[in-house]
Amino acid sequence: MILFQPPLSHPCLHRLFSCRRLDFKFSFAYDGTSEVLTHTLENAAVIQIGSPVCYQAAVNGHDGKKENRKMKIGWIGTGVMGASMAGHLQKVGHDLSVFSRTRKRAEGLIEKGGRWVDSPAGVAEQTEIVFTIVGFPEDVREVYLGPKGILSGKPACRIVVDMTTSQPSLARLIYDEAAKRGVESLDAPVSGGDIGARDAKLAIMVGGKKETFEKVLPLFQLMGPTLSYMGGPGSGQHTKACNQILVAGNMIGACEALLYASRQGLDMQQVIDIVGKGAAASWSINNLGPRIVRGDYAPGFFVEHFIKDMGIALAESAAAGFSLPGLALVQQLYIAVKAQGHGRSGTQALFLALQALNRAPNK
Ligand SMILES: NC(=O)c1ccc[n+]([C@@H]2O[C@H](COP(=O)([O-])OP(=O)(O)OC[C@H]3O[C@@H](n4cnc5c(N)ncnc54)[C@H](OP(=O)(O)O)[C@@H]3O)[C@@H](O)[C@H]2O)c1
Repeated sequence: MILFQPPLSHPCLHRLFSCRRLDFKFSFAYDGTSEVLTHTLENAAVIQIGSPVCYQAAVNGHDGKKENRKMKIGWIGTGVMGASMAGHLQKVGHDLSVFSRTRKRAEGLIEKGGRWVDSPAGVAEQTEIVFTIVGFPEDVREVYLGPKGILSGKPACRIVVDMTTSQPSLARLIYDEAAKRGVESLDAPVSGGDIGARDAKLAIMVGGKKETFEKVLPLFQLMGPTLSYMGGPGSGQHTKACNQILVAGNMIGACEALLYASRQGLDMQQVIDIVGKGAAASWSINNLGPRIVRGDYAPGFFVEHFIKDMGIALAESAAAGFSLPGLALVQQLYIAVKAQGHGRSGTQALFLALQALNRAPNK
């Protein structure tokens, strides 16, 4: 489904709209200048566009009359997620300046023309917009507010976008500190895992000013087809907390179901193949279940990052005065997974902790 909000009915907009199954093209006259934009969508997509005029202006530059402009983009954090996501921006020709804690993990982007810069402040001095996706809230704090952080000097960039899963309160602090320097800020965490990042199929949940979201929208669309503006600063992170509460439930369900299958002598893959197509289907069982069957506990999504995410949701709910007992139980189990040496394993390693709890043979 392709959804435009509000309808394409701006008075100065005459549109020609054609839609095929996998591609759509639209062209329209805007203040007398004809433009053509082409997007390729590999799958069905929901695209929410606040204003087609803003969208066009954001793609083509402030006057909305230039051809698709190649932008100077900064990217900080080139791990499992960041390297793939930045790669999608690079692929369409944007000029990339990169920084990450370990340079080696940025080599792939540098080989394809990315420019290495020595600090977050340096990245912000040389680019128009900076994206970040690092590990933990303390990393986000360092990258934005540290002595060599994005906001430490005189950033030339006009927009910063943090895509790390981090604290809503930190997102609001960065928003305020950025605003003092005339910089717009978005919190835009993602869902879809390593596969979603690689295949540009992420869901992106965004907090900040709506006008800023609209400016960044064409770049977000290069990373994923499912986008939603959720509200003011911190709203993207609150939405991601909801996402992680759901993932916690799905993970304990998937791992306990597979433990049950193995203990009852069923073929685990056969179980996934059937239950993964019914009402019990989830991303977890369909994508991580087969990794458990193969004994593949490589990340994916690190156990230690998931403990962090559940901790954020638990702290936010406690601060607001409500309890999430199911989430607290799953977080405790994951703390045990980490204690067993699997902090840098994928989240499917929960299966190992459950196996360890159940060493005794069936009665
Ligand atoms: N993987 C997933 O499936 C997934 C899905 C959705 C959201 N997320 C979230 O996305 C974020 C990144 O996840 P990931 O899986 O890509 O983790 P990752 O592979 O550890 O990537 C994080 C990258 O940021 C770098 N970094 C950390 N602190 C830094 C700092 N202070 N300055 C500069 N660079 C820094 C890390 O450097 P080093 O190379 O030195 O460690 C690493 O390259 C996390 O918040 C995670 O919760 C992950």
